[in-house]
Amino acid sequence: MYAPYLPETAPFTPEQRAWLNTFFRELALRTFSSEGDGQATTTLPLMGVDDQSIPTPPQPPRYNRKHPFPAHLLQCRRLTGEGSTKDIRHVVFSLEGAGLSYEVGDALGVYPENDPELVAALLKTLGYTGDELTPGPDGTELPIREALLRHYELGILPRPLLEAAAPHHELLPRLLEDSEALTTYLSGRDVLDLLREAPSFRPDPTTLIGLLRPLAPRLYSISSSPRVHPEAVHLTVGVVRYQAHGRLRKGVCSTFLAERASLDRPVSVFVHTNPNFRLPADPDTPIIMIGAGTGIAPFRAFLEDREATGARGPNWLFFGERNRATDFLYQDELEGWLQRGVLTRLDTAFSRDQAQKCYVQHRMLEQGRTLYAWLEEGACVYVCGDATHMARDVEATLLTIIQQEGGHSEEAAHAYLTTLKRTRRYQRDVY
Ligand SMILES: Cc1cc2nc3c(=O)[nH]c(=O)nc-3n(C[C@H](O)[C@H](O)[C@H](O)COP(=O)(O)OP(=O)(O)OC[C@H]3O[C@@H](n4cnc5c(N)ncnc54)[C@H](O)[C@@H]3O)c2cc1C
Ligand SMILES: NC(=O)c1ccc[n+]([C@@H]2O[C@H](COP(=O)([O-])OP(=O)(O)OC[C@H]3O[C@@H](n4cnc5c(N)ncnc54)[C@H](OP(=O)(O)O)[C@@H]3O)[C@@H](O)[C@H]2O)c1
Repeated sequence: MYAPYLPETAPFTPEQRAWLNTFFRELALRTFSSEGDGQATTTLPLMGVDDQSIPTPPQPPRYNRKHPFPAHLLQCRRLTGEGSTKDIRHVVFSLEGAGLSYEVGDALGVYPENDPELVAALLKTLGYTGDELTPGPDGTELPIREALLRHYELGILPRPLLEAAAPHHELLPRLLEDSEALTTYLSGRDVLDLLREAPSFRPDPTTLIGLLRPLAPRLYSISSSPRVHPEAVHLTVGVVRYQAHGRLRKGVCSTFLAERASLDRPVSVFVHTNPNFRLPADPDTPIIMIGAGTGIAPFRAFLEDREATGARGPNWLFFGERNRATDFLYQDELEGWLQRGVLTRLDTAFSRDQAQKCYVQHRMLEQGRTLYAWLEEGACVYVCGDATHMARDVEATLLTIIQQEGGHSEEAAHAYLTTLKRTRRYQRDVY
């Protein structure tokens, strides 16, 4: 009805553009109606304009990656049942007072802290008290115990650290010349391993800190819709624990959330927007969601959102995990959505419930004809979870289905998929 007031080339963000357009529209409306003849005048009747009706200009977000929000952990509930081979958590943070907005498809960045037991073992091995002052990432001095706890990666061995340790290490000088052997050596090794293997390598605290990599935040696909949980954000976190070189290894952030983050000490978080993983603008569009393990996270958010908006488009979920009895993540909720007709179809693949592996792509193949029919009806396809194996195999399966059910050549099937990607009907959130 209203022509846009700002030229497309004006240097504004979409939010600023929207606000300014609303402002000008209000102004024009009041001007025209006060004159009564539909002609704009040069005197703008600003006096008397009801301030309430003009929205406040959008502020740049107060919190971001550089300035994370101190969020209170509200919940860290185990989703996997007793006897499961996995530990997957439903994590809820409060966003009260944050003014942070997110959309389904976004991720949350979490700044973790290292395991104090690992830090204590490192300090002991190095012969430090822990109180030695070292420069932190912003240049201010802090005790090395704090620096190691909060600011540096202890599970990553950067090349400068390896080079500094090499003269004190039996294997490193040779490994540094052979990238393949080095990759094998690095798998499952951390700073503590390196120091134990090179007992004469004992840098002073400041030198050591200079050789470490800053502790990076970890991203987690958001598993809630802000329409349903306006003041909270939910995550689905797989806890990383494994044995390597005779020691139990713990993923920094996933075990921080599962074991060390407490309800009374805030955790630094920020919203990581992901414009490449979005529900279709048309609520009637069918969607096909394919996720294994924690890959279900954004689909829980999608389903919450589609239910909240009353979107009528059909929703089909393929979900894979190890065992139905213990690893059927969000089973009750999914069954509720099925009963209420929000979830049109649910196909599960529990890989370890039978002798032969059964994965999401096997279920897709079984349903190839229907899946292709959905594609032909305009469905959007979403894939989330493991990038290395699952997402690759799912893509190959999509191509097979397009060939088999659509009667396309291999080349034409690739072109079909490329078109889906280009038209944002095939989106992936893989890691
Ligand atoms: C966009 C995006 C979305 C994501 N969404 C989710 C999500 O919804 N849920 C989720 O759980 N994760 C998600 N992740 C992964 C998450 O960001 C972290 O990478 C994950 O939690 C591990 O972090 P960590 O700090 O616990 O482990 P880290 O301390 O970073 O350790 C992980 C590293 O340990 C090593 N490792 C792990 N297992 C083994 C093993 N068996 N043997 C040898 N080495 C091993 C690997 O080098 C691995 O990179 C997502 C990642 C991205 C990029
Ligand atoms: N970078 C990191 O630090 C990090 C940390 C955590 C998780 N991740 C990755 O995040 C992803 C999700 O992890 P997750 O533990 O939630 O789930 P996952 O390891 O992907 O397992 C979920 C299900 O997928 C199955 N699966 C295995 N290979 C598959 C394939 N090629 N195609 C389809 N399904 C396959 C598994 O079966 P089986 O196990 O029975 O074979 C299991 O049933 C994984 O890639 C994991 O490695 C990465």
